[in-house]
Amino acid sequence: MSAPTHELVRPCMSALRTVSITATGFYVPDRVMTNADLEKIVDTSDEWIFTRSGIRERHIAAEDQATSDLAAAAAQRAMESAGVTPDEIDFILVATCTPDMTFPSTACLVQKLIGAKNAACLDVSAACSGFLYAMDIARQYIACGAKQTILVIGAEKMSSVMDWTDRATCVLFGDGAGAAILQAREAKYGLLTSVLGSDGTLNELLMVPAGGSRQPASHEAIEQGLTCIRMAGREVFKHAVTGMAGAAREALLRCGANIEDVACIIPHQANSRIIQAVGQKLGVPMDRFFMNLERYGNTSAASVIMALDEAVRIGRVQRGDLVLLVVFGAGFTWAASLLEW
Ligand code: ACO
Repeated sequence: MSAPTHELVRPCMSALRTVSITATGFYVPDRVMTNADLEKIVDTSDEWIFTRSGIRERHIAAEDQATSDLAAAAAQRAMESAGVTPDEIDFILVATCTPDMTFPSTACLVQKLIGAKNAACLDVSAACSGFLYAMDIARQYIACGAKQTILVIGAEKMSSVMDWTDRATCVLFGDGAGAAILQAREAKYGLLTSVLGSDGTLNELLMVPAGGSRQPASHEAIEQGLTCIRMAGREVFKHAVTGMAGAAREALLRCGANIEDVACIIPHQANSRIIQAVGQKLGVPMDRFFMNLERYGNTSAASVIMALDEAVRIGRVQRGDLVLLVVFGAGFTWAASLLEW
C-alpha cells in the first residue's frame, strides 16, 4: 500500500479544545403529586417522607407523555437559551433508565421531535449517574474536534417503573428532564475534569428485574411487581455516601482544587440525608450544596442537570464559579464533574 500523495485531514488529532456548557433547560410535567396525595395511596405520612428523604412533592407525567416528550421539551428550552437551531446539533445523547421502548433509542425519538436532522443519536444507560456519563462522552467528542454542538439530556418517567403499592420506593421518585448544550469555547470557562466509576458486583441492590432479556415482561412478572424498582434502601444509602464523597475528592485532587474553592456543589437529588452525610464526609456545610429535591423528588438521570439549570437561573451559580457535580446510581455507578461556569 502506498502513502497518500496529499496531506490527510486528521479530525481526531487536533489540539484538545475547552468544552463548555453554553446553555441549559429543564421541563417537568404539570401534574404535582404531594406527600398528602401519597397518604391516600399507601400507608405513609408527610412527616415520614420529609424527615427520611427531604421530599415534599414530585411531578408525574401524563399517561400519554413518554420520556422522549419530557426530553424534547427540556431540549427546546436549552436550544432557545443557547441560540442554537436544531440543524446545528451534531450529536444527541440521552441518559435515561426509563426509555420509551427497548429500541429505537430515546435519543432517536427526541431527534424526530425536535427536527435535529444532522445529529447522530445514542442513549446512555448508567441510571441516576447517566447525565454525567453522557456529558463526559460529549466532552471527549468536542475536545478532539469530532463534534461541534452536542445536546446532552437526562430524562426520566420514573412513574412508569413505580410499584404504587410499595411505600418504601414510590414516595421517593418523580418525573422530569434536563438538557445542556455543549460546545467548544475560546474562553477558559468549561469542564475541567470528570471522574467515572462503577461496581457491577452490587447490581442486585437496586434494579428493575424484569422486562429485559433475562426475564421478559409477562403476566407473572407484572403481578409480582418485577417490572418495577426493587431497592435495598439502607445498602443504597451507605454506598451512595461513600461513592459520591470518593468521586468528589478525586475530581478535586485531579485539578489541584480544595473543597473550599468550590462555590456550589450540585449533587444527585436522591435524598437530603444522603447529601448531609456526603457533606459531613467532605467537611462542607450544607449551604454550599444546592438542593431542589423537596419539589421534584428523585428524577434519576434528570436530577443533576435539572438542579444545575435551576441553580443558574436563580443566580446561585455565577459566571466564573467553580461548580462540582456529583452523582450515584444503580449499577452501582458514580461520577463527579468539576467545571468553571
Ligand atoms: N412511610 C412510612 N413508613 C415507611 C415507609 C413510608 N413511605 N417506607 C418504609 N417505611 C417503614 C418500613 O416499613 C420500616 O418499618 P418497620 O420498622 O416496621 O419494619 C420503617 O419505615 C423503617 O424502614 P427503613 O427502610 O429501615 O427506613 P430507613 O430509615 O432506612 O429509610 C429510606 C428508608 C428513606 C429508603 C432510606 O433507606 C434511604 O434513603 N435509602 C436511599 C434510597 C434512595 O435514595 N434511593 C434512590 C435511588 S438510588 C439513588 O438515586 C442514589
